[in-house]
Amino acid sequence: MKSILFVCLGNICRSPIAEGVAKRLACENSMALEIDSAGTGDWHVGEAPCANSVKVARQNGVDISGLRARQVQKSDLERFDLIVALDDSNYDNLKRLGAKRLVKLGQYGFEGADVPDPYFFKGFEGFEEVYKMIEKSVETLLKTLKDNV
Ligand code: 4NP
Repeated sequence: MKSILFVCLGNICRSPIAEGVAKRLACENSMALEIDSAGTGDWHVGEAPCANSVKVARQNGVDISGLRARQVQKSDLERFDLIVALDDSNYDNLKRLGAKRLVKLGQYGFEGADVPDPYFFKGFEGFEEVYKMIEKSVETLLKTLKDNV
């Protein structure tokens, strides 16, 4: 296992958090992993992560402000060793695009649950919940990979 791609819908709220958390954990655990994120949609290509995601990550010591949104490409599905979908809709879209080494983040400690999309949440609390869920599941995912890196 050398590379992981986290995929949500817009690549501005959830998957950038997963990318930032995974990069930090990989670094702390001396795991040589390439980690990236992308969205199935193209509406936000080139944009920085949404303000609430930047804020909640920063409060937890993770700087994601420099990330920029991109849309998942077919070549990503060949190139990355593991594609991690944030919810069922992302999973189904990736499957349709031909992803094979595909899992859902919620499989790692959340019984396969979706990481809810906080884009339409009114408050900041939703982002704090989403952050906690992403942090825990990414931690569990990386633990399961550790022996193989
Ligand atoms: P994300 O959130 O998939 O976690 O980045 C969203 C961002 C934008 C949109 C939907 C979800 N949108 O419809 O533009």
